Amino acid sequence: MAGLALHGQRQSGQDVRTSNVTACVAVANIVKSSLGPVGLDKMLVDEVGDVTVTNDGATILRLLEVEHPAAKVLTELAAQQDEEVGDGTTSVVILAAELLRRANELVRARIHPTSIIAGYRMAMREGIKRLRDTLATPVDKLGREVLVNAARTSLSSKILGSAEADLFANMAVDAVQAVKMPGISGKFTYPVDAIHILKAQGKSATESELLPGYALNLTRASKLMPHRVSPARIACLDVDLRRAKMKMGISVLIENPEEINKAQEKELDITRDRIKAVLAAGANVVLTTKGIDDAALKYFVETGAIAVRRVSEHDLNRIAKATGATVQASMADLSGEESFDASLLGYAEEVYEERIRDDNILIMKKCKSTAACSVLLRGANEYMCDEMSRSFHDAACVVKRMLESNSVVAGGGAVEAALSIHLEHYAMMLESREQLAIAEFAEALLVIPKTLAVNAAKDATDLIAKLKAVHHAARKDDTKKKLATFGLDLSKGELRDNMAAGVVEPAMSKKKILQFATEAALTIIRIDDMIKIDPDEKGGHS
Ligand SMILES: Nc1ncnc2c1ncn2[C@@H]1O[C@H](COP(=O)(O)OP(=O)(O)OP(=O)(O)O)[C@@H](O)[C@H]1O
Ligand SMILES: [Mg+2]
Repeated sequence: MAGLALHGQRQSGQDVRTSNVTACVAVANIVKSSLGPVGLDKMLVDEVGDVTVTNDGATILRLLEVEHPAAKVLTELAAQQDEEVGDGTTSVVILAAELLRRANELVRARIHPTSIIAGYRMAMREGIKRLRDTLATPVDKLGREVLVNAARTSLSSKILGSAEADLFANMAVDAVQAVKMPGISGKFTYPVDAIHILKAQGKSATESELLPGYALNLTRASKLMPHRVSPARIACLDVDLRRAKMKMGISVLIENPEEINKAQEKELDITRDRIKAVLAAGANVVLTTKGIDDAALKYFVETGAIAVRRVSEHDLNRIAKATGATVQASMADLSGEESFDASLLGYAEEVYEERIRDDNILIMKKCKSTAACSVLLRGANEYMCDEMSRSFHDAACVVKRMLESNSVVAGGGAVEAALSIHLEHYAMMLESREQLAIAEFAEALLVIPKTLAVNAAKDATDLIAKLKAVHHAARKDDTKKKLATFGLDLSKGELRDNMAAGVVEPAMSKKKILQFATEAALTIIRIDDMIKIDPDEKGGHS
């Protein structure tokens, strides 16, 4: 451009818009085929050869390492949906890309981007209002069945969704209810993070189970230690309990052979002092991220305490949080003596080791600070275990959202179709220029049922026409209100009442999808100039 000297490239106007939209649509096309109960999985290989097989939109996009700056917005969009809702990450990306594509067409047809932005905003607001007031069914006292149905809907597109769906849907509901905690304002909260997922390879997925309390896939350091202690006082250490070896490079001159023994004993004495200090503070369960010397195990056995070595740092921090313990990284006090204060201990009603099938598992039950529960997932291989844990997490998030917001909507394209018809009418009532953008927004919503149908190898055009007709009737005629929950039956290729069929989703998830997708689309459509500075080849300013 004249007057602007740039050491780089500049793209503006329609060029940049088209290039951004093309990149976003390309990204959405990647995840498109994984939407819905008959969606397929993706296999991603990173630069060091690690393989991930997944159906989760957020995971796919995170691993793609998208370079295009506008397409990155979509990656962040999926991550945001994952963070705030936990499910619906594929839907949100597909919807955002469709909104963008249509907005770009409108700009090409000489509608000013500002009108489109205003129109999309109005459509989103009206859509959310309709969702809240008419389409969402409040469930005053959520029956267990609704929760299980929602979890099953979330699992249906995943590896756990086929034969084992019932088992895992029930497990997700139990797990979320096990971590229920009273919140600040009297409402209950359900911290999904408190559900600890253990993965074990081998055996069949149906042998997965729910364990009470925080479970660790580790055993006691010695078989002579008790199997069970109750009540448990837990010390969480990040301290080495092996013989305290002198540092490398230190040389000690010993002239008398007896001194050698003394020096060795002293090394053991330091470890003994540490252990005695912890036990004297009242601990009867000692967990350390480092090792424990075999010669030192006798101190634990003598006092009837359980000691576990090589606990991962992540686990130790979680256990500390659950039991109210403080992780201690060094035991030296100000005077240089080894000491351990009783206030650093955490508490649980009972700690015991149990043999579950072939594994020894240490379980901390009824922890003091936060409720915790663990899920032991079994799968044929590593990829399957990883994908199982991601799917389980999605389902648990859905149950959490249901319990928090207490309202459901019908899935399988029902909500999207109902909103689309409503917004179509809404657009027609407006006299302003936003009308066109709102009509496009309405049309864009249909991308979800369309993609669901295409993925299920059904006639999308035919099904969408039927779906629209049904929802049109439901909106116009009060006596046919019941038709508003009609959505796709993807196995038979026809319509059915998805609310009755148990394909339900939390209303909050759909609301966030609408919000986030619109915001992301607007962020990109607002851009009319892209300036890329060339990387400095010499590595500094000349
Ligand atoms: N049995 C079913 N029949 C019809 N539609 C279904 C059924 N189960 C799920 N769906 C629909 O499938 C869609 C969800 O698909 P999917 O779980 O693959 O994507 P997502 O939730 O958007 O993203 P992700 O799970 O990857 O975060 C929803 O629109 C849901 O209504
Ligand atoms: Mg899902």
